[in-house]
Amino acid sequence: MEKRFITVGKKADLQPGTGMSVELRDVGLALFNIDGTIYAMDNTCPHAGGPLGEGPVEGNLVACPWHGWKFDIQTGTCLKNPNESWRVPIFEVRETDGLIQVLLPDSEQDAITISLQSGEEEPTHGVASDCSPPTSPP
Ligand code: FES
Repeated sequence: MEKRFITVGKKADLQPGTGMSVELRDVGLALFNIDGTIYAMDNTCPHAGGPLGEGPVEGNLVACPWHGWKFDIQTGTCLKNPNESWRVPIFEVRETDGLIQVLLPDSEQDAITISLQSGEEEPTHGVASDCSPPTSPP
């Protein structure tokens, strides 16, 4: 499938050290600003679907807001379970005139809403300090 860069938000809305969720027609994105560089990954935690863009950011890591699994924002790797099956898909990002653009399949071209800014909120569910398997669903 052909890909192209899709505008998904403004860099000014994403301060360094924070993340946000962006809902598109076919996919949810988690955007992060690490020291002025923007990164994008799938917004769905591979554990139980938590919104990664709403998790607290620390350095180049984000913790899922539901159970605290931590992921490398630049690679999508889960710290505790670094094998490929737990890796979150990441997307290529570019910045043009203050806009954040993400390389997505053509069918993803309509950005609908920017749902939530985060990165500073405390997790609302039970928090694990690593990527240990859960004991119960969210
Ligand atoms: S849903 Fe993300 S750690 Fe459980």
